[in-house]
Amino acid sequence: MSEPTAPQSGQRFAGQVALITGASRGIGLGIAQRLNAEGATVILTARKAEALAEAVAQFPDGTAVGIAGKSDDAAHRAEVFDTIAEKFGRLDVLVTNVGINPVYGPLIDIDLDAARKILDVNVIGTLAWIQEAVHHEGLNFRENKGRVVSISSVAGQVPSPGISFYGISKAAVSHLTRSLAVELGPDIRVNAVAPAVVKTDFATALYEGREAEVAATYPAGRLGTPEDIAGAVAYLASADAEWITAQVLTADGGVITAGGSA
Ligand SMILES: NC(=O)c1ccc[n+]([C@@H]2O[C@H](COP(=O)([O-])OP(=O)(O)OC[C@H]3O[C@@H](n4cnc5c(N)ncnc54)[C@H](OP(=O)(O)O)[C@@H]3O)[C@@H](O)[C@H]2O)c1
Repeated sequence: MSEPTAPQSGQRFAGQVALITGASRGIGLGIAQRLNAEGATVILTARKAEALAEAVAQFPDGTAVGIAGKSDDAAHRAEVFDTIAEKFGRLDVLVTNVGINPVYGPLIDIDLDAARKILDVNVIGTLAWIQEAVHHEGLNFRENKGRVVSISSVAGQVPSPGISFYGISKAAVSHLTRSLAVELGPDIRVNAVAPAVVKTDFATALYEGREAEVAATYPAGRLGTPEDIAGAVAYLASADAEWITAQVLTADGGVITAGGSA
């Protein structure tokens, strides 16, 4: 019997422009690589300019642009959107991927300033990127049947001890997704992906030194990779998902159904 052939990567984003926030490494970089491999010109953001430049250098010449700045900084967002409008005159796909979790511990004791920062970056920041993409006249986001995909988390679906406030912020991202999808249809589709543990710098504390033990709780038998999430995002952003909006796609190797948490 012959081996099954690997799925062919299509060109579902040929001629399109995609913005991915927080994309110098991890899930964001994986998403940018996947959309670019399928034909998109990609704009990547991150705070640290040097690491961002290194990430951009990995892409074929002229198909990726990096703009450094903080996701919750309005001046940075304006620079990103103005640059895209000037260079390309269009935006087709917006992936709001930046999310932070600077604290670990019981919710009852969380420092309230830390909680406000999480809300600012994860919730208000996500909303701001979407508002500004839709309203910017030089991007034609609505005319291009723009697609938004936000990165939520299974921590927003089930209580996840230690990272509860982060989970609360991700629950808000998921509901923001549903609410905006209802407002922005039929022109714009808005969806989210909710991952469980994906092997990136962000999640190391959740599996380092005990990966086999953690992976054994996943029906899929392993933790996630940036490529796993990129495949889900690419699907939701593509014409294959034209009838899919207001959804939060859980990409978790089955762990939540099996009774686990993030
Ligand atoms: N990994 C997981 O297990 C997991 C699970 C569920 C959901 N998620 C979500 O997936 C998203 C990406 O996480 P990841 O695991 O890929 O993290 P990561 O490997 O730490 O990468 C984060 C990326 O975002 C950039 N970034 C971080 N804070 C930023 C800010 N305030 N403004 C602009 N850029 C910023 C980082 O670059 P700089 O440091 O240079 O800014 C980096 O490029 C987050 O929303 C996270 O909540 C992750």
